[in-house]
Amino acid sequence: MACFFRRKIAEKLGRALQQSEDVFIPALTAVPVLKKQQGADFRLLIGTLRASGILPSSGDVQVQTENLATQLKQDNVVEDISAARGIINFKVNRKLLAQKLLEPFGNGEDDKFGLNSELFNTLTTGTTLVEYSSPNIAKKFHAGHLRSTIIGNFIANLKQSLGNDVIRMNYLGDWGMQFGLLGAGFGQFGSPEKLKQNPLQHLFEVYVRVNKEAENNEDMKQAARDFFRQLEQHESHAVSLWQQFRDITVKEYRHIYERLGVHFDVYSGESFHQDQAQEVVQQLQSRGLLKTSEKGTGVVDLSPNRDMTNVCTVLRSDGTTLYITRDIAAAINRKEKYSFDEMIYVTDKSQENHFSQLFQILLAMGHSWADGCRHVSFGLVQGMKTRTGEVVFLEDVLDEARARMLHNMSQSNTTKELENPEETAEKVGISALIIQDFKGPLQSDYKFDWDRMLQAQGDTGVFLQYTHARLCSLKQTKKGVDAVAFDPSLLSEQTCTAILQHLLRYDEVLYQSAQDLQPKHLVNFLLKLCHLIASAHRDLPVKGSPEAVAQVQKKQSYANFYRFLLLNCQNTTLNSHNG
Ligand code: ARG
Repeated sequence: MACFFRRKIAEKLGRALQQSEDVFIPALTAVPVLKKQQGADFRLLIGTLRASGILPSSGDVQVQTENLATQLKQDNVVEDISAARGIINFKVNRKLLAQKLLEPFGNGEDDKFGLNSELFNTLTTGTTLVEYSSPNIAKKFHAGHLRSTIIGNFIANLKQSLGNDVIRMNYLGDWGMQFGLLGAGFGQFGSPEKLKQNPLQHLFEVYVRVNKEAENNEDMKQAARDFFRQLEQHESHAVSLWQQFRDITVKEYRHIYERLGVHFDVYSGESFHQDQAQEVVQQLQSRGLLKTSEKGTGVVDLSPNRDMTNVCTVLRSDGTTLYITRDIAAAINRKEKYSFDEMIYVTDKSQENHFSQLFQILLAMGHSWADGCRHVSFGLVQGMKTRTGEVVFLEDVLDEARARMLHNMSQSNTTKELENPEETAEKVGISALIIQDFKGPLQSDYKFDWDRMLQAQGDTGVFLQYTHARLCSLKQTKKGVDAVAFDPSLLSEQTCTAILQHLLRYDEVLYQSAQDLQPKHLVNFLLKLCHLIASAHRDLPVKGSPEAVAQVQKKQSYANFYRFLLLNCQNTTLNSHNG
């Protein structure tokens, strides 16, 4: 494990500089395989020691580097120590490298690979509430909802793998004037039959139609207002129709989310906090935070000089509450109910201001726990279309990914006969969708491109799944190999070493992702791993008939190495079947 080596090097540094070895742990990083300097495995940046005050920042960097390097003694674990410009490089014993990394393999701890690192000690522990996906009933499920769904799922999986208790929450847009329209419109354009057959589609159709109708029809508008008022006053016929729309939507979504490997512990929504939102207004009032604007709306003044130059509206002039008011109520309610240590909201960047205002208001109300709330925002996706046009439903995107992948598979002459090609196409297509989304920084906008994401070569989800499948097939052909009887010292080729060195970075990569909540660190780590495994398939054959005993042993070791890699690939995707 990387920890073992990091600790050994930190011990040396601690002795040399008469400091606790712990302070050096975060300053030591595994060297990325591309940038090997004289084959070093770890490096220490002198700049980090200066920045943290361990070394005086006034001294000459090069002199400090060389002085420190000469004080460090080589041994059986750390075989070579050398100084470069502001960096000390460490090369560890290669036989030990293989041994330590492969140690958990076969002793029942395979699924823990890289998850017990001391690097994680500074991360928030306890309960993490992640709110993601959160579509609006009867409205479009747009690309932003898709991104929120997969990014939120990634964060939840990551936190769970790192040992936190995770609450996965979907906060539905299940309240507001749209239900007035929908309720009034359903009487005229709705069909209970169609609602059963294809609920999402039908609700959307009714909603579009009634909106159009209401544009020039005062009666329709009035009917919508009436229906919404009845709903707010909890009149039973209105509530029961609303409940039906909601239940049927949740049921349908549950089903579709399953295709993505996504699930939720709680389906909450704006409707839950309708009454509490009024209480929030009272609390703001009693704390002297509620001001009345010139337009007669209720606002909270967030400007630094309290001169009303930056206000947030929490109450309409007719006394009804808004999206933000419900969010304040929801946050307070979640804290009481789940007593989370951190809460993470995942939406596109158009809501950045909304969440920043939300956190500021919570703090102003005296809820210091709002410091543990975070908004993970992401950029827009342009051009997400299917063959039939614009995407309206999540299902459309998933179907399109599957259909296109199926088509590609039928065109490729290397695709073997599969038992269930539809299922394979579904899994691979969805992986492609996710990897395209996760490769870059979340903040950037990107252009959706079916052809590029579904390529078999290059950095795609297809390539990732292909590598995994190839490792699986090796496992099947080599069933007889005994995991225990294998000698890590036979894995001395540069190809093996490169993979092992790469794996040394795994806990650092997880740590990075856990800190900035960006999937790109892990995804790029995995893609690189796949490229290294592709070289291994070339250089380390397990097939063919070996003559000498030594060759037999080598092939067995390779075969086991592949099994080890397979397990790691499965674990590193953090228990989600789709990356
Ligand atoms: N339903 C909202 C939308 O589609 C997203 C909700 C985000 N979460 C929140 N707590 N406001 O834009």
